[in-house]
Amino acid sequence: MGKHPMNKNTTTSPPSQPTSVVTGAAGFLGSHLVDLLLARGHKVIGIDNFVTGSVDNISHLGGNRNFKFIEQDVTEYIFLDVPVD
Ligand SMILES: NC(=O)c1ccc[n+]([C@@H]2O[C@H](COP(=O)([O-])OP(=O)(O)OC[C@H]3O[C@@H](n4cnc5c(N)ncnc54)[C@H](O)[C@@H]3O)[C@@H](O)[C@H]2O)c1
Repeated sequence: MGKHPMNKNTTTSPPSQPTSVVTGAAGFLGSHLVDLLLARGHKVIGIDNFVTGSVDNISHLGGNRNFKFIEQDVTEYIFLDVPVD
């Protein structure tokens, strides 16, 4: 059963560096959540359309290899080319 392609993650431990997606990443709460997850060793994909958020809230993450930012309205379809946890 463990070798079935659909079951490949059911018998293994969680990844050592999970990938998390944070919507509203440039907002007050979202930017703090991003910081927390990065401090816990996650890779983080932040999504925000800046309707109320600000780049100031995430500017300190510039150059952080574990953080990727996508400017987009989350009510629109989005395709992520990496697996997320
Ligand atoms: N220093 C402080 O204590 C402080 C500062 C700011 C806010 N606050 C409080 O925090 C609360 C607000 O914080 P918050 O984090 O909930 O709001 P926020 O507006 O800061 O964050 C929401 C984020 O979601 C984004 N967003 C909204 N719709 C979106 C969409 N369709 N697609 C993509 N992104 C989208 C916005 O651009 C924004 O960045 C309020 O209670 C406010 O009073 C406190």
